[in-house]
Amino acid sequence: MKHLLSAENLDRDTATALLDTADHLKRTLLGREVRKLPTLRGRTVLTVFYENSTRTRVSFEVAGKWMSADVVNVSATGSSVGKGESLRDTALTLSAAGADCVILRHPASGAAHRLATWLDGTPTAVVNAGDGTHEHPTQALLDAATLRERLGSLAGRRVAIVGDVLHSRVARSNVRLLATLGAEVTLVAPPTLLPAGVERWPVAGISHDLDAELPGLDAVMLLRVQAERMHGGFFPSAREYSIAYGMNETRLRRLPEHAVVLHPGPMLRGMEISSSVADSPRSAITEQVRNGVHVRMAVLYHLLAGEEHAE
Ligand code: CP
Repeated sequence: MKHLLSAENLDRDTATALLDTADHLKRTLLGREVRKLPTLRGRTVLTVFYENSTRTRVSFEVAGKWMSADVVNVSATGSSVGKGESLRDTALTLSAAGADCVILRHPASGAAHRLATWLDGTPTAVVNAGDGTHEHPTQALLDAATLRERLGSLAGRRVAIVGDVLHSRVARSNVRLLATLGAEVTLVAPPTLLPAGVERWPVAGISHDLDAELPGLDAVMLLRVQAERMHGGFFPSAREYSIAYGMNETRLRRLPEHAVVLHPGPMLRGMEISSSVADSPRSAITEQVRNGVHVRMAVLYHLLAGEEHAE
């Protein structure tokens, strides 16, 4: 694997290998006073974020540092991007400056693929850390890691992805990866928040009725309503959305006992999820963030170190 651009690049064996490596790294580091492995010593990892992020940027930085890589954070505001430098020139500059890996978040769908094309012929790997409404493959991997921990194998597990599917790169990557791993995904959303062509996605079903779906689920993955990508207003209203699709205690009681609640964050408490659900033992939201570090360590390891360097 030269780059990680899409969950489409992950066949079952590759995805399972990444999840197994993440699990191994998590257990290796558990309880250690000094969380530092020498695996990526001498490697340079650049995080290049043209959109806001807390979880993804920080966890990639922590992942790189825990593996002894040199990690440099590049933001659009503090770099020559602010002077009008193109993404292509920025990419070639960062590669020439010694980047072994560029982790890119960008508002344009397809930006990571373009970057990888421009860096063809250089040793620099590209990781898509979220491109527009297109994909966020490491989020899907950390969600799969969390579901595996809570539920065991994903084969045959029933997962509902709920909310703003239209604007969600998290939904697109999760649908692909969960299908690859054998889970049955149902999309649950108002018609206004479903994209054209969604009926061709590899899902078991599409529903507008969350309450009807809950009793048959193993997991509910809530999505953030992305107001910043809605330029013509948001329908339904926030209040209508919360009534029809918000995860609250009444809905939690309709889920089977073992079912788990996920949210990629940042979450809008009181709208997509009530605080009592977000902070309950049924919620795996904090575990998702924790697993994000180990999954991103595994991705960097597979891209930059290779199997023969495993500890
Ligand atoms: N889930 C996620 O991508 O969060 P950030 O935008 O904070 O990175």
